[in-house]
Amino acid sequence: MSNRKGIILAGGSGSRLFPVTMGLSKQLMPVYDKPMIYYPLSVLMMAGIRELAIITTPDDRAMFRRLLGTGRHWGIKLTYLTQPTPDGLAHAYVVAEDFLDGAPSAMVLGDNIFFGHGFRDALQSANRPGPGCTVFGYHVSDPERYGVVDFDASGRVLSIIEKPKNPPSSYAVTGLYFMDGSAPERAGRIQPSARGELEITELLLSYLEEDLLQVEHMGRGIAWLDTGTHGSLLDAGNFVRTLQKRQGMQTGCPEEIAFEQGWINAEGLRKQAEIYGKNDYGRYLLGLLDDQGTGRRQPVANHGR
Ligand code: DAU
Repeated sequence: MSNRKGIILAGGSGSRLFPVTMGLSKQLMPVYDKPMIYYPLSVLMMAGIRELAIITTPDDRAMFRRLLGTGRHWGIKLTYLTQPTPDGLAHAYVVAEDFLDGAPSAMVLGDNIFFGHGFRDALQSANRPGPGCTVFGYHVSDPERYGVVDFDASGRVLSIIEKPKNPPSSYAVTGLYFMDGSAPERAGRIQPSARGELEITELLLSYLEEDLLQVEHMGRGIAWLDTGTHGSLLDAGNFVRTLQKRQGMQTGCPEEIAFEQGWINAEGLRKQAEIYGKNDYGRYLLGLLDDQGTGRRQPVANHGR
């Protein structure tokens, strides 16, 4: 089993969604029927990661702790770290240096939502041991809003550029980063950019310079949803609603993943279901128990989520 640890970066000012996020952290806002952070948390749990740090602003820490607790009820261990000011995505590795203690990591941005066929395979391939960093390139219609991959004609990565005015390609780097144990030390060497942040692109370039950066293609069968604007947040919620209604299956459900990973048993799942009483989420969890061993539901691994 891998010793990879997880980081969920859930700080920042959320100013793009003011006034909604003036009183509540962006990553606690609902995406249809679950708090936003459930989705990235589920991603790291699907990658088999059980020891995770959640980085928040000092003000919001207590609310995240109230929502997620120690993680024991999901068979995971959660640590809460704070980032006093939004000093950049790469700064998360400075904050998490002691927590990581030399271990490789997977960091996901607390506002990134992934779903789709082949996603589990993508996680598995990025999760291999060894030196280096793996990120995902995803074709988007508006690359200028993201970190963008510059490829040469043979598909070799030449650079990663943050929010370029003239994007060299349509491939955005998603907010999911698999790095080896050297990430905190590399982040510590980065100088703040003109906007005063330790840029994630600088960290990626430090790997690229040593030929240690792998950009995996995230295909069109996978949905990478944006929550950066009021409209895209609403769209993400509607997407989750449509999908769940059609399939009768949850997306971003930590209890289900913990159960399938064998991190909690039937008793643990039942206890969780009881918390939600007779609402849809609680009924869904109880349904997982009823379906167990009946063939009515195939394991996640068989349906490529
Ligand atoms: O979503 C993928 C994109 O995320 C990448 O393509 C970009 O390369 C990367 O820079 C980032 O771009 P954003 O414009 O989305 O970054 P933003 O500043 O909005 O931060 C992303 C999330 O991380 C946001 O929910 C707030 C949180 N954050 C941000 C900063 C700068 C922190 O928790 N701490 C921070 O210091």
